Amino acid sequence: MSKLIAASILSADFTRLGEEIKNVEDAGADIIHFDVMDGHFVPNLTVGPMVLRAVRNITQLPIDAHLMVANPDHVLEDYISAGANYLSVHVEVCHHLHRTLQKIKQLGAKAGVALNPHTPVSALAYILEEVDFVLVMTVNPGFGGQSFIPAAFKKVSELKEIRQKHQMKFLIEVDGGIKVDNIAQISQAGVNIFVAGSAIFNSQDYFQTIQDMKKNCIK
Ligand code: DX5
Ligand code: ZN
Repeated sequence: MSKLIAASILSADFTRLGEEIKNVEDAGADIIHFDVMDGHFVPNLTVGPMVLRAVRNITQLPIDAHLMVANPDHVLEDYISAGANYLSVHVEVCHHLHRTLQKIKQLGAKAGVALNPHTPVSALAYILEEVDFVLVMTVNPGFGGQSFIPAAFKKVSELKEIRQKHQMKFLIEVDGGIKVDNIAQISQAGVNIFVAGSAIFNSQDYFQTIQDMKKNCIK
C-alpha cells in the first residue's frame, strides 16, 4: 500500500504561505494537510474555506482538510467546494457519523474519521466499511510541534489487523510528532499517510527532510 507524506501547513510561515506550499511541493510532498481549528473543539483557531480556496489555486497536490471543529456537518460543503480532496471529521463530535461520511463522499471527497489519542478503535466498529481513511491523532489536537504519543503504535496495529482480517481498503494516516527519526517505526505498524508539520517547516532543507522521511518509510 502507498506511503505518502502530507505536509501540514500549520507550521508554515503564514506571511509567505504560497511560497511555502510551492517549496514543499517541489521538495516532494505528496499531500497538503490543512488543519482547521475552531477554538471550541480544540483550544486554537486557524484557517477556513477562503484560505483553502487560495491554497487550491496555487497547488496541484491533493488537499487533506482535517476538521478539528465541534460542528463539522455545517461546513463540509464549504471545504469540499473550496477544493479539499480528503476531508476528515472527529468521531468524538459526530452524532450521526454514518450520515456525515455519506455526505462527504457524495460531495466528492475521500471521507476520513479522526480519533483523539484516548478514543479506541472500537468506536469505529460499525463504520469502517464506509471510511476511506482513518486519521490516528498521535498528539492531542490543537498545536504543532508536540511529541508523538507512543500508545498510538498499538492503535495503528489494531487498525492494520482489522483491515487485513476483513480485507478492507481504508488508508491509515498518522498526525502529530512525526519526524525523520521515528517514521520508520511508525511505518512498520502499517501507516499509509504521514502528516508532518514542524519536522518539515522547521527544517533548513525541506527537500532533504521529505526525502529522508520517504527513505525511512518501510514499504
Ligand atoms: C495538530 C495538527 C497537526 C499538526 C502536526 O492538531 O492536527 O496536523 O500540524 O504538527 P507536527 O507535525 O508539528 O506535530
Ligand atoms: Zn492535522
